[in-house]
Amino acid sequence: AIDIAKLRDETGYITIDSGYKNTGATKSSITFLDGELGILHYRGYSIEDLAEKANFLEVAYLLIYGELPTTEQYNKFEHEIRTHTIVNEDMRRIFNGFPVNSHPMGVMSSLVSAMSGFYPDSYDDKAPDRTELHIIRLLAKFPTLATWCYKKSHGHPINYPKNSLDYCSNFLHMMFSLPVEDYHVDPIVSAALNKLLILHADHEQNCSTSTVRLVGSSKANIYSSISAGISALWGPLHGGANQEVIEMLEDIKADGGDVQKFINKAKDKNSGFRLMGFGHRVYKNFDPRAKIIKKAADDILGKLGVNDPVLEIAKGLEEAALNDDYFVQRKLYPNVDFYSGIIYRALGIPTNMFTVMFALGRLPGWIAQWKEMRANKEPIGRPRQIYTGATDRPFVPMAERK
Ligand code: ACO
Repeated sequence: AIDIAKLRDETGYITIDSGYKNTGATKSSITFLDGELGILHYRGYSIEDLAEKANFLEVAYLLIYGELPTTEQYNKFEHEIRTHTIVNEDMRRIFNGFPVNSHPMGVMSSLVSAMSGFYPDSYDDKAPDRTELHIIRLLAKFPTLATWCYKKSHGHPINYPKNSLDYCSNFLHMMFSLPVEDYHVDPIVSAALNKLLILHADHEQNCSTSTVRLVGSSKANIYSSISAGISALWGPLHGGANQEVIEMLEDIKADGGDVQKFINKAKDKNSGFRLMGFGHRVYKNFDPRAKIIKKAADDILGKLGVNDPVLEIAKGLEEAALNDDYFVQRKLYPNVDFYSGIIYRALGIPTNMFTVMFALGRLPGWIAQWKEMRANKEPIGRPRQIYTGATDRPFVPMAERK
């Protein structure tokens, strides 16, 4: 019989860190965060400064290329993105095959993966390296694909991009223009979208980003790697939480608005219910993005003249949780997803598109991390395990099994 204990001695010990709570997978120069102090920097610039002063493509450039662009660099980058917004018409045939009520995250993950079929040089080792072009294509076509999902769910024809518009305005045009009426892009709406996308643009080695790096470490092409990141983001414990938050706030409203009842339910471990938009693996003080988003929610809803009763419910829930020992002891604070959905809703984005909006914001981060992983020539990611199953059993033919 195999002596497992002896084998283990010979092969050395393996550290188990379930959920990778304290395992560093890489060295990275992209995003710095301090969960105790509530600090978040992209390439050394504070999230507060970037959200206030930069635009989304500027931040995308910063994340991907390491420096804020000069005017000339920015104009070139933006121009290239503008001129790649059209999606190959054959992609429509794939898209049309999805049932009308498919979740847009599943559709987006499939379509982004399908892009590799349209750009086979992305996985052909002998083809010239076109990584930079694939990066531009991803940034340019993702908004076009995302708006297809929305249009289909409404039974409306899709809109082609209007390349005279800036990135955020073009997205809003493709979402909301109708053949009978052009959507007038409100600068307040476009500025709000810009801010939300910046706040989501990167967050070091979170679940979806680690997925992108892990998949990419096998030398999988950039489209497949980003597609895997979209799938990871979809989960309700990660990006999918922004959809779940609004659904939870709606449930509280429908139930009469008693936030304490939901707090109590979240504290009851047998209920299987958690306060969505609360808690974070790394932030044990506050999530700096949540602070900015909470203020932005007040500003934007005020400017747009939107009175959404769930904003008051969200504030009441936050206050009750922050004064409750259960949440205080476990250092559970609102995270980035807690208020973002309220803003997206005020902008006219439907709930099932919230996580797609998160993905649109996170795209430059995923790209930057994939690129860094390749530039560093990181080895294939391959965690170990401690085996706990049966050992060394004699095979029993089927006829003799009981
Ligand atoms: N509601 C109630 N209790 C919670 C919550 C919550 N939202 N979050 C954590 N807890 C409790 C846990 O039950 C656990 O309690 P215990 O110590 O008595 O066992 C303790 O707090 C620690 O929780 P863990 O699940 O161990 O923390 P972890 O770091 O693994 O999980 C996570 C972090 C997934 C974000 C968690 O807080 C959660 O599920 N939050 C709700 C979903 C959510 O908002 N996700 C978005 C995260 S941000 C992002 O991905 C963009």
